[in-house]
Parts: sequence; C-alpha cells; structure tokens
Amino acid sequence: MTNYTNFPRYLASKKSVDDRALNQESWNALASVLNTQDDLEILEIGGGIGTMIERLLENDTLEHVHYTLLDEQAENITEARQRLPKWAEEEGFVVSWEDEILHLRKMDKVTKITFLAEDVFDFLARQSTIQKYDLLIAHAFLDLIDIPATLPKLFEILRSSGHFYFTINFDGETIFESAIPYDEEIITRYHQTMDERIIDGKLSGDSHAGRHLFEHLRATGGEILSAGSSDWVVFSHAQNYPADEAYFLHFIINTVHDALLRDGVIAPRHIHDWASERHAQIKSGALVYIAHQLDFFGKIR
Ligand SMILES: C[S@@+](CC[C@H](N)C(=O)[O-])C[C@H]1O[C@@H](n2cnc3c(N)ncnc32)[C@H](O)[C@@H]1O
Repeated sequence: MTNYTNFPRYLASKKSVDDRALNQESWNALASVLNTQDDLEILEIGGGIGTMIERLLENDTLEHVHYTLLDEQAENITEARQRLPKWAEEEGFVVSWEDEILHLRKMDKVTKITFLAEDVFDFLARQSTIQKYDLLIAHAFLDLIDIPATLPKLFEILRSSGHFYFTINFDGETIFESAIPYDEEIITRYHQTMDERIIDGKLSGDSHAGRHLFEHLRATGGEILSAGSSDWVVFSHAQNYPADEAYFLHFIINTVHDALLRDGVIAPRHIHDWASERHAQIKSGALVYIAHQLDFFGKIR
C-alpha cells in the first residue's frame, strides 16, 4: 500500500485547497491593512513550509515586511528554506540570503524572511519583552492547541495596534460523499480524538475551534473585524483531482485511519475496511470531501 505520510508534501498539496477555501471578506480585510502600512513585522506560527507567504506575495499584498516563519518541525522549515527561494525565482523575484535572512525583491518592494524551527510555547517564553509584531498569522493551526490558555500569550507579543489573521479553524463538520459503512461512528470518534488530544500533559485541540473563537477572541481583548467560513471542498473533474489534491485526500484518510487505530475504540478491521474503500474512491475520482472551517481577521483592543 502506498505510504501517505509525507507531511511537507501534504502541506504543499493543501495549498490549492486552501486557496479556494479562504474567506474572501477576511482576506480583503487583511489585504487592506497590509496595503496601507509599511515596514511591518509579521509572525506566522505553525507556518509549515511557507505556503501562506507565497499566497501573500502572489496577491501582491506585501510591500516592505519582515516575516518570521515559525514551525516546530525542522523538516517543514528545511523544506520552506529550499522551496521559497526556488518559487520566488520562478515568480521573478531577486533572491538573496543575508545573515540567514531570505530577501525577496521585486520592483521596489522587499520581503525579508526569518525561519525558526521552534515550538511556539518555547518561543513565547523567551519573547515577551523582546520583540513585538504588527500582524500575527495562524493558518490551520489554532485548532491544534489550547486556545484560551494560549491566546493571551499570543496577544502579548502584538503591538497595541496589532492585527491577527487566524484562518482554517476547524468547526465540527467532516463530510465524505458518497456514504459508506462505518462513516458515522468513524467521523464522530475522529472528532472526539481532536477534543481528547493531549500534548505535554495538557489537553490541546478543539473540534469546534471555529465557533469557539468568537468567545475566546473577545474574552482576550480581540476585536473581530471580519469572520466567515473557509470550508474545504474537494472534488474531481473528469475523474481527476486538481493539482496534487488526490494526495491531500489520501493523507486525510490516512490521518483519520491512524488516529482511530491509536484511539482503540473502533475495531481495527472496520477502520481498515473504511479507509480502503475511501482510498479506492479517491483513485476512481468518486470521493467528495468537505470540512467546515472559519476564518477571522481582527485587531487587539
Ligand atoms: C496543519 S499544519 C499547518 C501548517 C501551515 N500553516 C499550512 O497550513 O500549510 C500545523 C502546523 O503546526 C505546527 N505545529 C504544531 N504544534 C506546534 C507548536 N507547538 N509550535 C510550533 N508549530 C507547531 C506543525 O508542525 C504543522 O506544521
């Protein structure tokens, strides 16, 4: 059986899915702030291989910024350090490295990127009095952590007029079409594994992070300027999925499969049968996958 466990490839395959999904109003609200400010310090946490930087540059939203890309997995940061210069050259940027900072120049604009392979909690523990940011980005990340405990620490490193852009926050709905045996128990149990995830001895994760963010953001002093859905909708065209989205789907099915095996509640035979049928549906182009998610853009009060 093919191995669907290459995480950097999954993140690359997710880019086109996210491009379609991102909430346009929240994106426009972000873009209007980026377009009117200069010399911004941006921090992206859990930034993976840097596809959000590519997206921002593709849409001409960055002028003169210093962008810090932080992710705990060294493998992702290594991939980002290789991928971004290559991508930028193809897009017509002048690329250079100065003191380990990647400089991407086009016209009279320059984006400087610092790469950090570090756990965000270690980073926050050594940051509070040093560096402040104008914009904090967390994309497909907040639903993995303890949001109410972490948001106050994140807001502390924002400048007084700082903004946040928190996107692709999972919100409790996973849909696979067409229906097959065990769907209901598998999806219900999969969502429960998100709620029961323990990292470093602490409950981390929320299968309804999207809707809960309204309350968490306001309770922490955040003003929501825009919010809306950013559902993933993946389907084939003439039996083929666009870009590398078949890999994206295989990876998702594999993630559900492995989470449920670790969970140990549903019989392994049922989990295997379910996953095999879903992988076969992807190969024939039959699977439709929808995940409900929410995006937020705002500022601290
Ligand atoms: C679902 S991925 C999303 C990555 C990227 N934002 C994207 O959408 O392509 C979540 C990322 O968060 C990172 N991550 C998880 N926990 C982290 C932590 N405590 N500190 C820093 N990064 C973390 C993972 O390594 C992973 O790359």
